[in-house]
Amino acid sequence: MYVAQPIEWTEGGVVMLDQRRLPAEEITYTYTDYREVAKAIHEMVIRGAPAIGVAAAMGAALGVLHSPAKSVDALRAEFEEICDTLAKTRPTAVDLFWAIERMKQRFAELTAETSELAKIKQGMVKEAKQVHEEKRSTDEAIGKFGAELMPREGQVMTQCNAGALATGGIGTALGVIRVAFEQGRKLHVLVPETRPYLQGARLTAWELHKGGIPLTLITDNMVGHFLKSGKVGAVVTGADRIAANGDTANKIGTYQIAVLAKENKVPFYIAAPISTFDLSIADGEHIPIEERSAAEVTHLQGVRIAPDVPAANPAFDVTPARYIAAIFTERGVARRPYTESLRALAQQAPQQHVASPA
Ligand code: MRU
Repeated sequence: MYVAQPIEWTEGGVVMLDQRRLPAEEITYTYTDYREVAKAIHEMVIRGAPAIGVAAAMGAALGVLHSPAKSVDALRAEFEEICDTLAKTRPTAVDLFWAIERMKQRFAELTAETSELAKIKQGMVKEAKQVHEEKRSTDEAIGKFGAELMPREGQVMTQCNAGALATGGIGTALGVIRVAFEQGRKLHVLVPETRPYLQGARLTAWELHKGGIPLTLITDNMVGHFLKSGKVGAVVTGADRIAANGDTANKIGTYQIAVLAKENKVPFYIAAPISTFDLSIADGEHIPIEERSAAEVTHLQGVRIAPDVPAANPAFDVTPARYIAAIFTERGVARRPYTESLRALAQQAPQQHVASPA
């Protein structure tokens, strides 16, 4: 089945598919400078929490690889600058900071082992590729755990785009749907368009259509109507940051879907890797929410649709944990109380897997 490739490390540089141009055009760019990678994250050439993490890891490796530094100390100083630049790109998805932290740790290990710059550079490139590889296996595992809780047949709803484009693997929420579909579950996906940036209409609809998974595109204000119909068996979305108590930031509009799902007794699930956990914050109140340009609301694909009035554009909202029936991760399924289940999953050795859900 078709799997989009949002990012790839190549000999020539970091290749990214420009997600701003989808579905009209499939254009790729090859970046050789870490500043270009940072700009690409900021301008949403690449987006989706795990994919942003992969991009940050590759940006860090690219910066080290092409650094003119002649000593480890000079390289270390430049590496700090590289990490700071990448960290300033987008504030909400914690995978970005997770990836930077991981690259920092690897840099520290490598520089403790050797002072040969070529070896340090090779080691950093290897680590970035490893981060990407792990996203692929992580998505597969999330997909397997989550698929078991999908209905045998009928409608499932998602939000935004948590597919291959958003992770570099098969996707988190869409990975769950894909695995369930491949297992023979007869699913039909309801895809809210996800105003204002239209990740649902432009990206999720494109991915599902290319992958041969049946879907119906709906506008965001149809969500309640469909959840009330009695035909939706589950909602599954991705996440940008999950606090210690399970409160979850995801694309704007997710909160209202979760509330309406609970009202209509439809289970609402989150699918996300452990790298999206932020156990350093107690609850969702502490998650920074990116505020984007008002022009994304007053304009639709560059065409003005509103008078010149103030417009708000928070890119994410926080769904309180009480609305979340379960969180699918690569190490198993977390349930309430999340303060305990999330910590237990985070502390597990990566290769271990808890028993699959009943
Ligand atoms: O602003 P975006 O497009 O980066 O927001 C993406 C989302 O909100 C996704 O649902 C989330 O990152 C999970 S992606 C697997």
